[in-house]
Amino acid sequence: MGDFLTLEEIQKAAQQVKKQSKHRPRIGLILGSGLGPLAESVEKADVVPYAKILGWPVSGVEGHAGQLVLGVLEEQTVAVMQGRTHYYEGYDMPRLGLPVRVMQQLGIEILIVTNAAGAVHPDFEPGDLMMLTDHLNLIGMAGQNPLRGPNLDELGPRFPDMSKVYDRDLQSLARQVAAEEKLGLREGVYCCLAGPSFETPADLRFLRAAGVDAVGMSTVPEATVARHGGTRVLGVSGISNKANLDGATETTHAEVLEAGQVLVPKLTKLVRGVLRKL
Ligand code: HPA
Repeated sequence: MGDFLTLEEIQKAAQQVKKQSKHRPRIGLILGSGLGPLAESVEKADVVPYAKILGWPVSGVEGHAGQLVLGVLEEQTVAVMQGRTHYYEGYDMPRLGLPVRVMQQLGIEILIVTNAAGAVHPDFEPGDLMMLTDHLNLIGMAGQNPLRGPNLDELGPRFPDMSKVYDRDLQSLARQVAAEEKLGLREGVYCCLAGPSFETPADLRFLRAAGVDAVGMSTVPEATVARHGGTRVLGVSGISNKANLDGATETTHAEVLEAGQVLVPKLTKLVRGVLRKL
């Protein structure tokens, strides 16, 4: 058996958050590696450290602050995950779904999920934003799906549809904002790998052949749990590095974090713009 979530456990964790904040968010926001500073502009913020929430997977990775920030951004009530936990840190997949489950209990209808990713598409450059039009759930195909285990029928169906993970209307809004703010916005397919090692050139050629545009180590589990519970999802990758298909250069976590500095202002504009239109 595995580390499966129960409804009771999810509700208990949500209750703990509710005790520490009066905000009832409509929108959840997950900030990826190096993208955390956006949480600092949340107004009337209540900050709940992940370690204070029962069962919440805690990350030790540099660039992930590890706290839930509840408050107001562009007049919307939001719950912002400043940092996230990844599969490679050793948690079982269902446990990685707990944060989204808790935000669903808090009342979110929309999840905006961001990540740092390597460009697999040859034209994508570090500093680009890529909106997710779809994802390749490679770890899910290999059996590591966050919905594995007894289905929580109260939260969603046993076999949820995944034909439109990333909401078409939210994608249209993001395109509009990008045009208005003159932000270049790429679009493409994201693939989540288990990590923590980066890809070999052969891995990357395989991903490219499979139609992948950007690769990372997150987002897909959260988007899957979000859709199971009927939450609408917008996904945005901050391209932090060029994936290394020819083996000529190395990929480092330092460059991923460094790219965050270029990406944060762009991502902030995009997210704020989308929030204003919701
Ligand atoms: N590969 C996997 N994950 C990543 C990368 C990458 O090149 N960049 C940022 N996260």
